[in-house]
Amino acid sequence: MDWKALLGLGSSSQTARLFNKVNKKHIPKHIAIIMDGNGRWAKARNLPRETGHRQGVEALRSIIETCVELKVDHLTLFAFSTENWKRPEREIQALMSLLVEYLHKELPELHKNGVKIWALGDIDGLPSNTAQEVRKAIKHTEKNKGLQVNIAINYGSRAEILRAVRNIVEDILGHRLSITELSEDLILCYLYTAGIPDPDLLIRTSGEMRLSNFLLYQAAYTELYFTDKKLLWPDFDKRELLKAILEYQKRVRKYGGIDEQDGG
Ligand code: FPP
Repeated sequence: MDWKALLGLGSSSQTARLFNKVNKKHIPKHIAIIMDGNGRWAKARNLPRETGHRQGVEALRSIIETCVELKVDHLTLFAFSTENWKRPEREIQALMSLLVEYLHKELPELHKNGVKIWALGDIDGLPSNTAQEVRKAIKHTEKNKGLQVNIAINYGSRAEILRAVRNIVEDILGHRLSITELSEDLILCYLYTAGIPDPDLLIRTSGEMRLSNFLLYQAAYTELYFTDKKLLWPDFDKRELLKAILEYQKRVRKYGGIDEQDGG
């Protein structure tokens, strides 16, 4: 007999309890995730790394569903970095194919749920079929008003900042912009994330405590949440996301000022 479930101690009742605890009026508007640990997940099972990535895509489904349910505005996923080209050709190909397969298979369901797909990064630098599938998903969902899923692919924050600097200089030299107009907010408009609010919460699984060239400018005041090293991305589920949001809801965000309650 499953006495744990009978006593309401099963993982689904635990998830329901966490869900009820979440303050629905204080949901992070923008959650960014570094989905780390697919390789380790596979290695622990003597499976190829590609299988870990496939399992990582599976994990994504319930995370997107939960973000839709909680009415999160933006979910940004670090799917492939500018540095990931250093990986073996076979793994790169597997990741590109997985992305194409995911977008192709999931698009109807995502669309039905009002999800809008967007991409951050150098899409022109992707294999043509991957770029084509990404563009198709963007076009297909462009009018949707629900959760916006920003897929960071062939993305690196330093490359993004360099691109912004180049475009700013070009605009100044072309007299479309003057130096006096430059501001912190204007720089945001030149990043891939133009028009997207800065992330409120950034989650990284697998215990690595670094940003790895992800959203460096945008994450200046983002609350960071690192899971234990035993929690690898393929095992990150709704319950874990709710735990991260509950932790976020405990944080006091001061943006360099003071906590209103502490202030005199
Ligand atoms: C990091 O794990 C993960 C990646 C580099 C890729 C993440 C991609 C996916 C989950 C699939 C594609 C995404 C979408 C949006 C469909 P790692 O390989 O660095 O793991 P390790 O540190 O354990 O080796």
